[in-house]
Amino acid sequence: MKVLVIGGGGREHAIAWALHKSPKVDELYAIPGNPGISEIGTCVPGSVEDLDGILKFVENKAIDLTVIGPEVPLCMGLADLLEDHGHKVFGPRQKAANLEGSKAFSKDFMVRHHIPTAKYVEVTDLESAYEALKEFSYPVVVKADGLAAGKGVVIAEDEKTAKETLKEMLSGEILSGAGKKVVLEEFLTGFECSLLCFTDGKTIVPMVSAKDHKQIYDNNKGPNTGGMGSVSPNPFLPAGMDEKFRTEIMDPFVKGLQEDGLDFRGVIFIGLMIENGEPKVLEFNVRFGDPETQAVLMRLDSDLYEIMNAVAEGKLADVDIKWKDDQVTCVVLASGGYPGSYEKGKVITGLDQLPEDIVVFHAGTAMKDGQLVTNGGRVLNICAEGGSLEETRTKVYDAIKSIHFDGMYCRKDIGLH
Ligand code: AMP
Ligand code: GLY
Repeated sequence: MKVLVIGGGGREHAIAWALHKSPKVDELYAIPGNPGISEIGTCVPGSVEDLDGILKFVENKAIDLTVIGPEVPLCMGLADLLEDHGHKVFGPRQKAANLEGSKAFSKDFMVRHHIPTAKYVEVTDLESAYEALKEFSYPVVVKADGLAAGKGVVIAEDEKTAKETLKEMLSGEILSGAGKKVVLEEFLTGFECSLLCFTDGKTIVPMVSAKDHKQIYDNNKGPNTGGMGSVSPNPFLPAGMDEKFRTEIMDPFVKGLQEDGLDFRGVIFIGLMIENGEPKVLEFNVRFGDPETQAVLMRLDSDLYEIMNAVAEGKLADVDIKWKDDQVTCVVLASGGYPGSYEKGKVITGLDQLPEDIVVFHAGTAMKDGQLVTNGGRVLNICAEGGSLEETRTKVYDAIKSIHFDGMYCRKDIGLH
């Protein structure tokens, strides 16, 4: 089979890595991919937003299955375009991708289908926004409606901050494309975790649990990033949540898809807040999480191609998904300055000196004059598998000592907080 992966980050490298292990995958392509993926497949230059270019490639190469990694092409309708031309896709169609693409759409979906979530109000003009604000206490959560690359959520501690944020967001100037509609939301407290599931819109199957670490500094300090590391299983997940997740979240989710006629064949990533054993949904993402996926897919003990193909064909109920009963730690090596501005093009050394049981996924790298260099904020994901959190943390942090690039930064407490 010929499989195409759309995207070029650590998540896509992990997806490609798992697909490459399948005896059914003969040819593996990625657009645009990255130097890590190019070791196991063919990377084709191009943009994940060039939908017509991707369609042409799929037709020219007679690709059997296209796996879409990032949310942007999903929200632009890449799955629709490919499927409408008769090609098989892993990833939801545009209308369903709105569950991530629009906060207002996803809150409305949750409320109508009785999925527990924070109380909210949707506003489109400043006057009604200020009026609605009176119904909330502080802190209040202000969310820009559209895709905002993780920058559309502000937790406002007081009325002044809330009003300023609303003004900025509703003017639509701060976040182009996002923000002309805003969701005001009750602030939830508790413990945050993510639930990743495969679904074909009829059957929903949770993956093993994972935790990511969003803030840049140790002890969860500093600004949010795309994610500085992950562990699987999630060591902090309270026991006995599986049944609650199934009956209160996953089953109503699939029923909601069916009632609303949303065609969802891919991964639903559910961000949850749990307080006193009660889960509430913070957000939906319509794709794998990054870097949760890196840790989760290392623990997969089934053929990822078979799972993705079954999802794409609406036959998820026919596959048996097995996981290894072990532990994975994944630490992100980032460019100095990230998530603010940072320099690119720093030479990366030491990857050839790592022990065999260390898995490296490339996130933001490039080849320049025959050398591997940094090319993004999150540069590499260093991962190890083992029997315990302690063992895998030791393996990963020992391995990191051999890797170098100017300004290299990582959190030292992945898996601990
Ligand atoms: P979202 O993109 O909606 O998941 O928001 C990003 C992050 O903001 C979440 O991972 C939470 O840390 C935080 N957040 C979002 N909504 C709330 C809420 N209602 N209460 C508390 N924190 C929230
Ligand atoms: N790690 C969070 C995300 O992928 O959205």
